[in-house]
Amino acid sequence: MQTLKVDLGERSYPIHFGEGLLDQPQLLAPHIAGRQVAIVTNETVAPLYLERLTRSLAAYSVLPIILPDGESFKNWETLQLIFNGLLTARHDRRTTVIALGGGVIGDMAGFAAACYQRGVDFIQVPTTLLSQVDSSVGGKTGINHPLGKNMVGAFYQPNLVLIDTTSLNTLPARELSAGLAEVIKYGLICDEPFLTWLEDHVDALRALDQVALTTAIQRSCAAKAEVVGADEREAGVRATLNLGHTFGHAIETHMGYGVWLHGEAVAAGTVMALEMSARLGWITHAERDRGIRLFERAGLPVVPPAEMTPADFMEHMAIDKKVIDGRLRLVLLRRMGEATVTDDYPQEVLQATLGADYRALAQLKG
Ligand code: NAD
Ligand code: GLY
Repeated sequence: MQTLKVDLGERSYPIHFGEGLLDQPQLLAPHIAGRQVAIVTNETVAPLYLERLTRSLAAYSVLPIILPDGESFKNWETLQLIFNGLLTARHDRRTTVIALGGGVIGDMAGFAAACYQRGVDFIQVPTTLLSQVDSSVGGKTGINHPLGKNMVGAFYQPNLVLIDTTSLNTLPARELSAGLAEVIKYGLICDEPFLTWLEDHVDALRALDQVALTTAIQRSCAAKAEVVGADEREAGVRATLNLGHTFGHAIETHMGYGVWLHGEAVAAGTVMALEMSARLGWITHAERDRGIRLFERAGLPVVPPAEMTPADFMEHMAIDKKVIDGRLRLVLLRRMGEATVTDDYPQEVLQATLGADYRALAQLKG
């Protein structure tokens, strides 16, 4: 087992990761204050891992709350099911909510923990690559609104992130690829050598090589922990973690939640950010193409949906959380391995980016 720390003063917490951690009660016990525990999971993950986690919590009264599966259920109605479960079972303020699942479960369970009786303890047990490298760390919780992705939520840190890397063995290949989008993101925004490592190991990662996966999780979580430690509530540098997300969230919202996986939308959105960075002269065309090639090798889409027009993008991007005083700030690359957040770009460059021929770019890579 390895451990990283998210350094947030008295709200600091460990990220434990390694093989078989679901079966280690002593890792959970120090982070549970009361006798009651609620495990929030979904219909897909419950048959796979709920029994094992429950066994590791034998010392507690465990309430399973099993939600429907999917991004389209990340909403008020499903959130209410968590509160219904907690109240019906009379969970008090010393309860601990444990999220067992991917980013959808983690975001919803975390938001429920933030709100239930004005805040109860919370533990993340992420079971997708995406949630292990990104969403379980850093305390962003929330739900979608029909008009915008993740538009309702709270910053609420967990007490512990417990990553059993072997849970990825049951993850569908498409979901694994979606997680790789966020892994590649760290290379692009802050760790160019990691990008080179990913180019060498992307096939091993897709083949579920545990050593490669552990390295990818370690480097991703270390990058995320550092950024969150420096800027918990996204006053500055944390926004760079949203590379490709402004374009990507527009794709998710426009296409209908769950049609494009979050990681898929982030991949295509990041290609758009690479294209815009190249148009601004900040990265070369060869560097843009290097990024496109890596996403392709990771099994990810690099062409935005054909049916989305520049006007569609502009409409959705206008309610991005990075809009301030009507100005849309975008995360772009100053160079490979260095991101910046800026509203200082010519509108024509944004329009040209939205209208670019991504199919031709993808074909160029062949
Ligand atoms: P997800 O939670 O929908 O999980 C993907 C699919 O895999 C689901 O069908 C799930 O049931 C299934 N699954 C989970 N673990 C499994 C396992 N071990 N074996 C088999 N199937 C398994 O999607 P995700 O990609 O994990 O998360 C995406 C969500 O995370 C989005 O809503 C996104 O907005 C959010 N997110 C949040 C943050 C944050 O900082 N809070 C960061 C990135 C993404
Ligand atoms: N996933 C972006 C963030 O945590 O800030």
